[in-house]
Amino acid sequence: MAMAGSAVGLGNIWRFPYMVGEHGGAAFIIVYIICCLLVSLPIFFAESIIGKATRKDTFGALGTLAPRQRNVGFVAILASFVILSFYSVVGGWSIDYLIRSLGGSFSGRSIAEAREVFAAMSASSVENVSCMLVFLGLTALIVGAGVEKGIGRFSKISMPVLFIMVVMIAVVSLSLPGAGKGVEYLVKPDFSKLDGPAIAAALGQSFFSLSLGVGTILTYSSYMKEEDSILATGGWTAFFDTVFALIAGFAIMPAVFAAGIEPAAGPSLVFETLPVIFSQMGKVLPVVFFLAILIAALSSSISMLEVVVAWLVDQKKMRRSHAVLAVFGAAALLGSACAVAPRVFSACDFFSSNVLMMIGALAFAMIVGWKMPREEVLRYVRYRFVYWLIRYAAPVMILAIAVTNLV
Ligand code: PHE
Repeated sequence: MAMAGSAVGLGNIWRFPYMVGEHGGAAFIIVYIICCLLVSLPIFFAESIIGKATRKDTFGALGTLAPRQRNVGFVAILASFVILSFYSVVGGWSIDYLIRSLGGSFSGRSIAEAREVFAAMSASSVENVSCMLVFLGLTALIVGAGVEKGIGRFSKISMPVLFIMVVMIAVVSLSLPGAGKGVEYLVKPDFSKLDGPAIAAALGQSFFSLSLGVGTILTYSSYMKEEDSILATGGWTAFFDTVFALIAGFAIMPAVFAAGIEPAAGPSLVFETLPVIFSQMGKVLPVVFFLAILIAALSSSISMLEVVVAWLVDQKKMRRSHAVLAVFGAAALLGSACAVAPRVFSACDFFSSNVLMMIGALAFAMIVGWKMPREEVLRYVRYRFVYWLIRYAAPVMILAIAVTNLV
């Protein structure tokens, strides 16, 4: 559940549905699933093997398996930290909007008015920073409570609840007059849109969505029970993540089309269009929607914080509570910069997903594919072709997307 919680996040809600529509509907979904199976899932297994085999934090684990490459562990930890910082800003917005929708502040508003509300909120440094701090504080509280009592317990309760909420929104959304066009946007296959950038987008999205390359899967795997299967955990996580992304698509796009609005991605969709559309259907739906976003974001942010905390506890021998506090303080600083300066926000976003994440993913795949004894890897993944995917397909594809995205 914790792995699924890390995977299911803002990436599923505000990027996936839009990407599907932009890149050819069902055709893109098929490519996305193939990318997951052939590239992302093998990388997931690799990262998981490193964690389970060493039972250490990201830096310590690489130090054990590949001492000369251990500094890549830092890159991954840094990536988690950077993502945590800008992710918390959006998490903060969801808190802000949850409070607003509890007060019914979107009912009777037009989308143009909602746009003004969002612009005013994101321009207000005080509001932005304080909501970000509340979100980061909640993240720290959960992580501070411990791996089992905090992260584990939160995930076990929140994931099923989140699932029910999103299914509920999808049912309402699909029953709206005019919803059919949204369904068409998501499923009508258009193979002519499947070009190189579409495939790179599918791969990049599946990386981010499965939380790969930044040490979260590694760190969580280091807490796995001996008898837990890496194949099953990875397979279920990817399955759940994809199903959740699809349901989120059916919760969002039919409502957008029923209201006669052009679909978009990111903040404008979640914070401008949807609150207005959902408010037209009563007071409860917007509250459920923003609560769902908050839970999805929290279950991801705790996994990012845990990566850095695990490193401080294992390597720097800090007490867990002190480590949580230290990372909270540092992330609060970078998060504040992201909250007040949109340029810092996008730089953090771009740099972490296009550079740091790729370096981490490449290193994890190469270490398992080329450094670890083959027999040992096979003990975890059982099938020879999975080993070949980790050894050859994954590194080649990571380099290919990195090049496509950066040039
Ligand atoms: N997978 C999360 C999402 O889809 C984001 C994430 C990235 C979480 C990296 C942890 C680490 O939103």
